[in-house]
Amino acid sequence: MTGTAKAARSAETRGATGYSRILGVGGYRPRTVVPNAELCGILDSSDEWIETRTGIRERRFASADETLDVMAVAGAQKALAQSGVDAADIDLVVLASMSNLLQTPPLAVRVAHAVGARRAAALDLSAACAGFCHALAVASDAIRAGSARHALVIGAERMTDIVERTDRGSAFLFADGAGAAVLAPADQPGVGPVVRRADGAYADALRMTAPWGGGERPWMRMDGRRIFRWAVEEVAPAAAEALRAAHVDPVRLGAFVPHQANLRIIELMAQRLGLGPDTVVAREVVHTGNTSAASIPLALETLLAEGRVRSGDTALLVGFGAGLNLAAQVVVLP
Ligand code: UT7
Repeated sequence: MTGTAKAARSAETRGATGYSRILGVGGYRPRTVVPNAELCGILDSSDEWIETRTGIRERRFASADETLDVMAVAGAQKALAQSGVDAADIDLVVLASMSNLLQTPPLAVRVAHAVGARRAAALDLSAACAGFCHALAVASDAIRAGSARHALVIGAERMTDIVERTDRGSAFLFADGAGAAVLAPADQPGVGPVVRRADGAYADALRMTAPWGGGERPWMRMDGRRIFRWAVEEVAPAAAEALRAAHVDPVRLGAFVPHQANLRIIELMAQRLGLGPDTVVAREVVHTGNTSAASIPLALETLLAEGRVRSGDTALLVGFGAGLNLAAQVVVLP
């Protein structure tokens, strides 16, 4: 059999259907809640400044035992339970993280093993705060092409490992957590076409100060003002493009679930998109801070748990961050 014929047979066996959809989402929030007041002394800041500039009132910081593995596994197990898919039937795990300090073995492989996805291929994806939407697109495309049938997509972060506690420009913003989604083949589109961009001209806007092993301990640094402007000017139009690609009218959109970077960015994007009066806007950032690649699945889990959205509603997801880098797509909620 030729290589092409083998590939065709494999896709047939796995059942390429043309579409994919999300069957379940789940998240893990660390135990320790940290209100703004606890950070003000060290940052020479105030509760009022942090809330006015970011919308954040509190966030969660992981304790030593709440490792990336522990949080990612817990989020994945909840997503699996909600989806009704047996872990043994997952054949692809894609995990996005920008704070995984143990580069090898891949975190996705460890998580796949721990949840019982023993037949799955597993890989890590590095796209910073845009990671979850990129991972979702990779998994969705694999299902649509027939190279995977059930996929587990995870965003997991311990931003407190890479953000310096004393950094006045970012320490109040970032936080820890993990979220996951389970994807399966579908007869109707459940994950819309992805709109993606990367702009290396902004590479220094959010970066580590040094590579690991160079003597100096690397920390993340961010030019917040520059990223803020880029998010409103470049990310909002890309999100609008994802709506058009999915043929969804912004006025009829069920929910807007952008990366939870800063409430002011979220409100400005929502305004620019011209969403309808009934479109639910995710504001998870108020209580969880910016959890990077974990923020979108955590926000989805909350909206579903609170009954603010219903199964079958459409939701516009858009992740953005270091690179600078973005990915957006419309999904149908499980
Ligand atoms: O996760 C994806 C990537 N990241 C983002 O999307 C983050 C995007 N950026 C932001 O969210 C915002 O830029 C921040 C929340 C980080 C900062 O808000 P800002 O409104 O852009 O503040 P700024 O940096 O322009 O600073 C405004 C003022 C300055 O004082 P002057 O020059 O106006 O007198 C700062 O010195 O606020 C001062 N400032 C602070 N004051 C109290 C800066 N940091 C602090 C602080 N506490 N922690």
